[in-house]
Amino acid sequence: MKRALIAGITGQDGSYLAEFLAGKGYEVHGIVRRASSFNTGRIDHLYQDPHENKPRLVLHYGDLSDGTGLRRILENVRPDEVYNLAAQSHVKVSFEAPEYTADIVASGTLRLLEAVRDYNDISKASVRVYQAGSSEMFGAASPPQSEATPFYPRSPYAASKVAAHWYALNYREAYGMFICNGILFNHESPRRGETFVTRKITRAVGRIKHGLQEKLFLGNLDAKRDWGFAGDYVEAMCMMLQHDKPDDYVVATGEAYSVQEFLVKAFGRVGLNWQDYVEIDPRYFRPTEVDFLQGDPTKVMTTLGWKPRVSFDELVNMMVDQDLDLALRERTLTDAGFRRHIHS
Ligand code: NAP
Ligand code: GDD
Repeated sequence: MKRALIAGITGQDGSYLAEFLAGKGYEVHGIVRRASSFNTGRIDHLYQDPHENKPRLVLHYGDLSDGTGLRRILENVRPDEVYNLAAQSHVKVSFEAPEYTADIVASGTLRLLEAVRDYNDISKASVRVYQAGSSEMFGAASPPQSEATPFYPRSPYAASKVAAHWYALNYREAYGMFICNGILFNHESPRRGETFVTRKITRAVGRIKHGLQEKLFLGNLDAKRDWGFAGDYVEAMCMMLQHDKPDDYVVATGEAYSVQEFLVKAFGRVGLNWQDYVEIDPRYFRPTEVDFLQGDPTKVMTTLGWKPRVSFDELVNMMVDQDLDLALRERTLTDAGFRRHIHS
């Protein structure tokens, strides 16, 4: 049985990857940050009591800011594969917390690579590492973007991901480590964080439909993204680590839509016109925007045989349908006199 260690297991991708690897028979270990409230909502359905015999999902407290702790976790877990999905992953927030973003996204990756390098030396193992790179690294480069496109980062987040990408590539060349950089374009799901634009829209659609919200405030509606389904993308991560040689891959659908096109589809799903509800708030503009991301996934398709299963329309419908259901439950609670909690 293979053992995988996932940094960032409580996030959107971490939860889908944990499910996928568990389904393949892996023993899955995850690194969880200490928080004052529970942050394991996305993986609660997978959790098993550690007092049970041989649980298939084991959680470890740790943080990418704490190199010694990472080293200790590696020695305890002795993984075959490590997936580094941990990050301060919000682009706009990275302009507000740039040093923190760099510390976790760039230096945090370096800490994890160092820990794996030492563990490999001590144990004579050859742990395979997946590094979560991003299409944000292409930034202002013209679409379609492929593995050959030069990076042009447009935020502290993107610049930090570029640093992490080059750390990973350098450790592969310098120490012969098996490390793959996935350069993933935007991928969404009903588990997407609620401050990313797709989920912010679908949550609002559900609430507006059920009379819990009147307006939706957004920023730039003209930006174009290549949006896929997170469940499909985690499979590509695993496929990279099963290949006979480590390499870097763009993962994308090859199609791009604007934020406005997403709005049309999402509001249209419930028979509403987005223009009746959406207002622009410059607070959501970014100091430097990434206008147009559209990936060229030829390499991952031909070399690894990966392809996306969920279309753009299916993705929007899947997210809207879940958030309608969530809003209906909220409505029921509100009608019963419970106070409503509003995310913005
Ligand atoms: P996400 O939902 O924001 O999850 C991020 C994960 O990182 C969470 O588990 C979070 O823990 C953890 N984390 C944050 N700071 C940490 C720290 N200091 N130490 C340890 N863990 C920490 O992001 P995602 O959408 O799943 O994305 C996964 C990875 O892929 C990220 O690296 C992201 O930058 C990258 N990426 C995402 C996309 C996309 O479209 N989703 C595209 C390209 C690349 P908490 O739950 O406690 O916050
Ligand atoms: N978040 C947000 N909120 N974005 C908005 C809003 C809003 O109210 N209004 C317009 N947008 C625009 C943003 O300006 C951006 O052009 C686009 O919607 C997408 O924004 P996000 O959903 O926040 O995603 P992102 O593309 O910036 O970053 C995501 O994808 C990257 C891969 O390309 C994140 O998941 C990153 O972690 C990931 O690396």
